[in-house]
Amino acid sequence: MEDTRLNRLIIIGASGHGRVVADIAKLNGYEDIVFLDNNSGLKECAGYPVLGPDTMTAGLQGKIIVAVGNAYIRKRLMNRDQGRDFPILIHPNAVIAEDAVIGEGTVVMAGTVVNSGARIGNGCIVNTSSSIDHDCAVGDYCHVSVGAHLSGTVCIGSCSWVGAGAIISNNVNICSNVTLGAGAVVIKDIEEEGTYIGVPVKKMLKDKASESRFGGGYFSYKIITNIRFFTVPANVCRRGRRRTA
Ligand SMILES: CC(C)(COP(=O)(O)OP(=O)(O)OC[C@H]1O[C@@H](n2cnc3c(N)ncnc32)[C@H](O)[C@@H]1OP(=O)(O)O)[C@@H](O)C(=O)NCCC(=O)NCCS
Repeated sequence: MEDTRLNRLIIIGASGHGRVVADIAKLNGYEDIVFLDNNSGLKECAGYPVLGPDTMTAGLQGKIIVAVGNAYIRKRLMNRDQGRDFPILIHPNAVIAEDAVIGEGTVVMAGTVVNSGARIGNGCIVNTSSSIDHDCAVGDYCHVSVGAHLSGTVCIGSCSWVGAGAIISNNVNICSNVTLGAGAVVIKDIEEEGTYIGVPVKKMLKDKASESRFGGGYFSYKIITNIRFFTVPANVCRRGRRRTA
């Protein structure tokens, strides 16, 4: 029977990142959330059903978000489903300038600041507590990781990954397909793709990140044993405020 639910959000990738995306989607008003994941062992994620592999988008109505860390998989899956509706998901506690431009399928997480004149491409991840300052341009499928900061007028090509806590000085241009390691500091243009680490950055000679493009892969749902989990009491868990129009 044909599936006619138009108000559904299909999240591809039932990983930790997928759970964060589901949380933001819920805060954005989505109620009918389903996951797709190629790990056939997964049946549920964040309380939502995992219906089957990502190829199921073809038979399912609804908007699609690709919640996969790997930029190249994100790009491939969004291209495969071209013509479908890829919403922009913005956490209510993100601060976005009125004139900032954000592309389809991009997720902006809690505590993030996107300032005036910034442009962010399609299929990007702007991760928790990062900042993208005035007049920056971030290419399609980039990932600005947790706590990374782009000063004013930084330009980054597509499919680049800015590692956690990295800092990019103002007016710096970075080409496509660049990985910046966690804590990297970039003060000059980067014109050659590859992985860069350190303060200020230097190119890594052995570039494993480029070989695997870019970790945080599709099957990143880890089964963790021997760890004692604590339940956070409901009154300690502060939910994001919903922004009103
Ligand atoms: C840069 C990075 C991609 C390299 O990964 P890798 O190719 O697997 O590198 P390895 O872990 O094998 O490390 C190789 C060497 O580089 C060093 N190194 C790795 N990452 C580094 C970093 N961010 N800063 C400084 N040195 C680093 C290691 O200490 C090691 O040095 P050694 O050869 O002297 O022992 C990875 O370490 C990294 O920083 N990833 C970003 C993770 C992140 O920000 N996640 C955010 C998710 S929101």
